[in-house]
Amino acid sequence: MTKNTLKLPIYLDYQATTPLDPRVLDAMMPYLTEHFGNPHSVEHSFGWRAEGAVEAARKQVASLIGASEDEIIFTSGATESNNLALKGVAFAHPPAKNHIITVKTEHECVLASARALEGMGFTVTYLDVCSDGLIDLDELASAINDKTSLVSVMAVNNEIGVSQDLGVIGALCRERGVLFHTDAAQAVGKIPLNVDEMNIDVMSISGHKIYGPKGIGAIYVRKGTSILPLLDGGGQEQGMRSGTLAPAQCVGLGKACGIAAQDMEGDEEHIRALSLKLLNAIKSKLNNVRLNGSDDCRFWGNLNLTFDGVKSDLLVADLKDIAVSTGSACSSATQKSSYVLEAIGHTREEVDASIRIGIGRMTTEEEIDYAAQHIIKCVQNLS
Ligand SMILES: Cc1ncc(COP(=O)(O)O)c(C=O)c1O
Repeated sequence: MTKNTLKLPIYLDYQATTPLDPRVLDAMMPYLTEHFGNPHSVEHSFGWRAEGAVEAARKQVASLIGASEDEIIFTSGATESNNLALKGVAFAHPPAKNHIITVKTEHECVLASARALEGMGFTVTYLDVCSDGLIDLDELASAINDKTSLVSVMAVNNEIGVSQDLGVIGALCRERGVLFHTDAAQAVGKIPLNVDEMNIDVMSISGHKIYGPKGIGAIYVRKGTSILPLLDGGGQEQGMRSGTLAPAQCVGLGKACGIAAQDMEGDEEHIRALSLKLLNAIKSKLNNVRLNGSDDCRFWGNLNLTFDGVKSDLLVADLKDIAVSTGSACSSATQKSSYVLEAIGHTREEVDASIRIGIGRMTTEEEIDYAAQHIIKCVQNLS
């Protein structure tokens, strides 16, 4: 007889955040306890020890994306990295280069940064997406003009999981002489990324989306790229991000990147298999379900589904033992309707009938079987 190991509630919200990988916690612990030194203390071994750990972590982050370690700046997370990417690049350019391009389905922190720049006199083009969630490359090409300094297009969308063709976008930006930033918070460690092969100049990274700790992230800045710091202070991180680094957090991000480099293929296979299992189980019993976003260009750890005729807030409430969401954690905090689903052409009713299911490294087959049964039952009850 097999032992029932299912533990409730089941976490299926991996885009909001991921559990800390136990290997990451092990790596962090010494830097929360005996190795507590300030990594910027240059006169004694406590400082050197912490600095050594931070620099080793920087190498692990760099190596995952094909960068060199002096191109990695630690930040508090992708929100800060995205603010620095957009504002820092915009501020570093002369007034004649006051135009940036981004996409309507970017994370709120990119869009809010872009709107803040508009308030300061910059011009911003917000590209539409097609019904599959992908941008039209011709539209991007024609939006670039003599005034454009930066194109910012996210790698994997946090609400619907579609992945943009970074290689093609990067090549276009390079050819047209504009910088290319990508918010890769949902992509790093999940899909292969290489800053040189993809001509990426600036990239945002978040620790807690890749089984690392919250409160730490990084920004990759290609050597020679002008970017103005947003924080004034002690000049740490090559002057780009003042403030004392948190060694345990840096070590955690580094370890999470190291693990991702090793486990990416296995994780991807595991996640894709579970995701397809769940999707097929649901589709086999319900005919009012649709997967949102491209079938082909996607990270399978994100299933955003519309159940026609079902109110998703009631569905999420009925799925008591299963943690899923009706949208991004940020927009659920403000109870705003999903602008991402609206951008792919959903009506208000369709937006309100959609849920996001996030599958990750720690998800088990047993959890997926349980989730499938319960989702089907609850949707049937609400239909
Ligand atoms: C695509 C994307 N960008 C940026 C962020 C913000 O990341 P952080 O929580 O590290 O500030 C998130 C988190 O929800 C995200 O999904």
